[in-house]
Order: sequence, then C-alpha cells, then structure tokens
Amino acid sequence: MSRFGLEGKRILITGAAAGIGEAIARNFSEAGARLILVDIDEENGNRVAGAIERDGGLVQFRRLDIGDEPKCRRVAAAVQDQGPLDVLVNNAGIGCVGTLLETEGDDLDRLYRVNVRGAFNLCKAFLPGMIERGRGNIINLASIGGVVAVRDRLAYCVSKFAVVGLTKSIALDHARQGIRCNCICPGRVETPFVAARLKEYADPVTARREMEATQALGRMARPEEIACAARYLASDESAFVTGTDFVIDGGWSAGK
Ligand SMILES: NC(=O)c1ccc[n+]([C@@H]2O[C@H](COP(=O)([O-])OP(=O)(O)OC[C@H]3O[C@@H](n4cnc5c(N)ncnc54)[C@H](O)[C@@H]3O)[C@@H](O)[C@H]2O)c1
Repeated sequence: MSRFGLEGKRILITGAAAGIGEAIARNFSEAGARLILVDIDEENGNRVAGAIERDGGLVQFRRLDIGDEPKCRRVAAAVQDQGPLDVLVNNAGIGCVGTLLETEGDDLDRLYRVNVRGAFNLCKAFLPGMIERGRGNIINLASIGGVVAVRDRLAYCVSKFAVVGLTKSIALDHARQGIRCNCICPGRVETPFVAARLKEYADPVTARREMEATQALGRMARPEEIACAARYLASDESAFVTGTDFVIDGGWSAGK
C-alpha cells in the first residue's frame, strides 16, 4: 500500500455532492478507495460520482437524508450486504446565522437533526458491523465552532460542540474493540456552505472580508486542504490517532 494510500478500503462519505465532501471523495478515489457517496442532492451527487467514475474510480451514489434514522439503517444494511465498511465519513452538515435571541427553537432542531442526529444515526448503523470485524474508522466533520464559540452562530456551535462530544465518546468507549473515531475542525472553507451563510447578511461583501480576516492566514481554506487531513485520518498511517479534534483553522484559534 502506498503512503497514505486507501487501496481497497470501502468508504462511505455523507454530503458528498458539494464542498468538502466532494473534495474528500475525489481525494479518496485518487488514493484507491472504493466509495459510497450519499447526499440529499441527487443531481449533484450523481454529477460527482459520474466524474469520479470517468476518472477510473469505483463509486456508487445513493440518495439519503441522514436525519432519517430508519433510512440510515436501510442504507447501512444494503451497503454491508455488499461487504464490510472500513471508513465512515460523517461530513454532511448545515448552518445558520444568529445569536440566541435571533435563533428559533426550530432552527436549533433543524441543525441538530442533521449535524448531530445524522452522524449519530450512521455511527449507530455501522458500528456493530465494525466491532464484529474488530476494526473500523469514523471521521466526523465538526468545526472550529465545535471547539471555541463563533460570534453569531449559536445553533451551529451548539451542534458542533455536540459532534466533538460524540466523537470523543465513541473513541473512548470502543477503542479496545478496534474502532478509531476522530473529528476535523476546520475554520472557514470556500464552499457553497459559506456562500449560503454570506447571503444571510445584509452586506455580503463586508461579511466576506470579515470571514477571511478571522483566519490568521487572512484567507479561507480550500476544500482540498481539508480533504488532505481526512485522507491522513482514513489511512493506516494514523493508526495511533483516535479521539482527536483536528483543528485546521489557518491560525484562527491560535490566539484564543
Ligand atoms: N465550509 C466551512 O467553512 C466549514 C467550516 C467548518 C466546518 N464545516 C463543516 O464541514 C461539513 C461540510 O461543509 P461544506 O462547507 O462542504 O458544506 P456544503 O453545504 O457545501 O455541502 C454540504 C453537503 O451536505 C448535504 N446535506 C445537507 N443536509 C443533508 C442531509 N440531511 N442528508 C444528506 N446530505 C445532506 C448537502 O446537500 C451538500 O451537498 C459540514 O459538516 C460543515 O458544518 C464547514
């Protein structure tokens, strides 16, 4: 196996139709992984899978709303009928701008359903099979907003702190059964997700400048820069890494 290679590994990635998930899918395919991509966005999911296939990758796309637990169980059963899963990447997530006073209970429930329940649903669906095999690897996309508070992002921070808690709990409880579980905590990354947040501001141009300035490096990350960290965590080179919240924030939190 090549260095940081993923040859032969079966890997499921959620939210793979855009942004960081798409970058992870392309990176992992280049490393030799066999991919199952899931997303609610069927059109873009098929577009990403089609492009990977044309480049010679082994990939299938399935439509899945990760907030729907029975459907997660059904997809997990179908995936495991075809063979064991080596790595689960819980990447899909949604955001919302606002302080506590500007956040409705429904906003919190909406973010919790995808960001927390979604990852929980798939961990729960795949963990028994991984434990039975004595090995499994879970990578969750949290955020720098799961490590330090981010202004104006109450619901998002609540949900992402929970993702860090979910990650560390799984890592601790199941380490001796051969399971690793880590999360990645990016600062701002140039994706459709950030474009959607910017539209929520009255002055998107100023908001963008401010978003870039929060990183000490003075720019947002490219999705490919996050995918490289995911590749490391998915590879056997990271065999001793579990329970970590891998911060990749261009120095945002260095002074906090
Ligand atoms: N972009 C950033 O600045 C940033 C920073 C830190 C963390 N993150 C996290 O990284 C992850 C990916 O972010 P991104 O910027 O690529 O987002 P994105 O909005 O560009 O892409 C997210 C993908 O998830 C899919 N999705 C949304 N809800 C879903 C559901 N219920 N079931 C299945 N798929 C669903 C969307 O259709 C989309 O394809 C998220 O968890 C996000 O919170 C992003």
